Amino acid sequence: MDFKDYIRVIPDFPQPGISFKDITTLLNDGEKYRLAIDELRKLVSDLKIDLIAGPEARGFVVGAPLAYALGVGFVPIRKKGKLPYDTIEVKYNLEYGTDVLAMHSDAVKPGQNVLIADDLLATGGTISTSVELVRQLGGNVVGTAFLIELGELNGRAKLPGIDVYSLVQYDN
Ligand code: PRP
Ligand code: MG
Repeated sequence: MDFKDYIRVIPDFPQPGISFKDITTLLNDGEKYRLAIDELRKLVSDLKIDLIAGPEARGFVVGAPLAYALGVGFVPIRKKGKLPYDTIEVKYNLEYGTDVLAMHSDAVKPGQNVLIADDLLATGGTISTSVELVRQLGGNVVGTAFLIELGELNGRAKLPGIDVYSLVQYDN
């Protein structure tokens, strides 16, 4: 089956020239959502994984079920100000301005093997910031997993030496 059949493409959202990949149509179909997570699980089945980390918000709908399927813990990476305990923070660039991602300072123990999961790899800004957070705590990033990879934006270039697993690929 082709998961692209269940991803809705919205032209010119949120701004002209951007072709938005809407996964809500995939999430809406329980059988296909489960199949997508199962396929991702198979893609990473050779990795030794202790934890999955996922950046809010869409990283939660991929990372958390994948963690459940693998029987490992899930670490939420959140926008600054949302996590209640001690945090580490990393600033990153958005198309306009900057933002800050945060993680609890005890969420990853040194030497733990962490897979980072998100819905989409675009420019790679979100995921490379997530990698930096995990590494700051001494975590070993064993790979990154996505439902969708936008090839033209070359997010892989921001992930040197890190394996990228993606279910479907678009040119842009
Ligand atoms: C989207 C998407 C990825 C990120 C990909 O998140 O869910 O996390 O952009 O783009 P990048 O590779 O250029 O960083 P967004 O920041 O829109 O927030 P959301 O997940 O809360 O919707
Ligand atoms: Mg996101």
